[in-house]
Amino acid sequence: MKEDILILAIESSCDETAASVVKNGRTVLSNVIFSQIALHTQYGGVVPEIASRKHIEKINQVISEALQQAGVTLAEIDAVAVTYGPGLVGALLVGVATAKALAFAAKKPLIGVHHIEGHICANYITNPELEPPFICLVVSGGHTHLVRVTDYGKYEILGRTRDDAAGEAYDKVARAIGLGYPGGPKIDKLAKEGNPKAIPFPRAHVADAPYDFSFSGLKSAVLNYLNSCEMKGEPVNPADVAASFQDAVVDVLVTRAIMAVKESGMNRFAIAGGVASNSAIRSAFTERCRQEGIVFYRPEPVFCTDNAAMIGSAAYYEYQNGVRHGWDLNAIPNLKLGER
Ligand code: KG4
Ligand code: ZN
Repeated sequence: MKEDILILAIESSCDETAASVVKNGRTVLSNVIFSQIALHTQYGGVVPEIASRKHIEKINQVISEALQQAGVTLAEIDAVAVTYGPGLVGALLVGVATAKALAFAAKKPLIGVHHIEGHICANYITNPELEPPFICLVVSGGHTHLVRVTDYGKYEILGRTRDDAAGEAYDKVARAIGLGYPGGPKIDKLAKEGNPKAIPFPRAHVADAPYDFSFSGLKSAVLNYLNSCEMKGEPVNPADVAASFQDAVVDVLVTRAIMAVKESGMNRFAIAGGVASNSAIRSAFTERCRQEGIVFYRPEPVFCTDNAAMIGSAAYYEYQNGVRHGWDLNAIPNLKLGER
């Protein structure tokens, strides 16, 4: 009997063309990522049409490299996995069509994976001891979700953003202070030189929904602050703006997430998604979890931002749960977590 399960995973939901081979959901044999960031920077954000075209150009090469680096052939793979939503429809379709073609040609099962489920499962790669149940805060460019992971492949959404995602707020504020795209890593760096208490930006609470988030008011407060300085001819210290904005984001994320963990009666908490690579967020949660006696898990930064290894990890547990998709698998741009 064959013991190890090898999954070839493909991710193309936004601006990273990625492929990976993952063994038994936790061991990454290869993790190839072609980032299109440089291509989109000149437009100040991801241009969907350009992203799809670049995915088509790169995807075969990225998959070949992933197989080669892992030292396996397609014949040795047990299943082909692919992100089929949520994301940019044209970008998703490139991955889905490629995965279907490969799986069909090689006579392998096909497993469609939810992108956010992938982000959560990135924690299984970095933290071999982590097992459900636990609470996970997913903070990315498109999503801000507080999730109770009840079992492998089983999720309960406790809260979500009512407007902008955390990463979206980072990107918009970065653009306003002239840092360019993608803003998250740039704000992270600049904030280290600023005073987080310089400007008292608001911490929004959503009435009757203690686990929900709202970042559009914070984003507007930053834009208003910048406008009013300009009108009054007062100088702006971009490092102070970055640090004060980040302080507000960190405060809201830590307060809500820790409250959810404590009220859940669990003592395991994880973060995931591109924004989870933020140094201030990682250290604030490390400190707060230490004080509260909560065990804190986070993926390595390379598994926080979009990658295919996390899709390979999620697919392994779906595979073990018997999930198989048909040749009619389609891209679903607004796929909900927990839907198949
Ligand atoms: O998870 P991800 O790669 O893509 C989505 O699924 O959306 O997340 C991308 C987001 C972008 O908004 C980017 O600015 C943000 O993650 N990000 C960061 C950092 N690195 C990436 N935000 C804050 N600090 C960072 N160090
Ligand atoms: Zn993502």
